[in-house]
Amino acid sequence: MTAPTGWIPVALSSEIEAGASAGAVVDGREVVVWRDTSGVAHAWEDRCPHRGMRMSFGFVRGDHIACLYHGWQYDTAGQCRYIPAHPDLDVPQTIKVPTYATKEANGIIWSTLSDAVADEATPGETAEVTPLRSLYVDCPAAFIRETLESASMPGFTEPEGETIFAAVADSVWTLTTGEDRLYIGVQPVNPSQTALHVVIAGPQATYAGAGQAHFSTWLETLRRSLEDGAPEEATSAPMTTAEVA
Ligand code: FES
Repeated sequence: MTAPTGWIPVALSSEIEAGASAGAVVDGREVVVWRDTSGVAHAWEDRCPHRGMRMSFGFVRGDHIACLYHGWQYDTAGQCRYIPAHPDLDVPQTIKVPTYATKEANGIIWSTLSDAVADEATPGETAEVTPLRSLYVDCPAAFIRETLESASMPGFTEPEGETIFAAVADSVWTLTTGEDRLYIGVQPVNPSQTALHVVIAGPQATYAGAGQAHFSTWLETLRRSLEDGAPEEATSAPMTTAEVA
């Protein structure tokens, strides 16, 4: 699998509340995604420099995240600021968690998995979105894409209509039926699993509640169909439209 580049989705914004943290895996790399209590999202290497505990098991206090194991505290730049066992120690600047460039757009948290900001804007940014869900599918991303290219999505505001698939970028796909559009951030987890972070491109006044339930049900059916038809090898043929619909 080719390593993803540019802005890569790591979580749905609505799933990481202020003061919370979660682990993600991108192409085999472990990432902690956390949000400080002022609301800013961060993505770092998911490993404490002390003894390697996952930072995603830690707890957030204000603009710091503390490791679960021995309580070392790191500020938003990843710099260790406090070691409980040595409260008077001036912590060396070398004790630092690698941090990654992070942004939020379209209801999704994105990271470059490096300290460099990607040159391109996050593709396909829209004005208003309604969060839907993150979907973990036991299939390679290429198989899911091939399937979606011929899938039929039941619209919400216009149930009938041709479904149009578009790959805005490797990490961003859209599915459109009539006035309804799903915006899908594609996170390759490993060669056999992909996370899809899905939002509805449209206002919550239209889609919150019934609209979210409508597309969430369809996505769950899609996931089961994908996994039932998943190839042993990533190069197998995609499913047909009829199998997905
Ligand atoms: S492993 Fe994180 S503080 Fe010890």
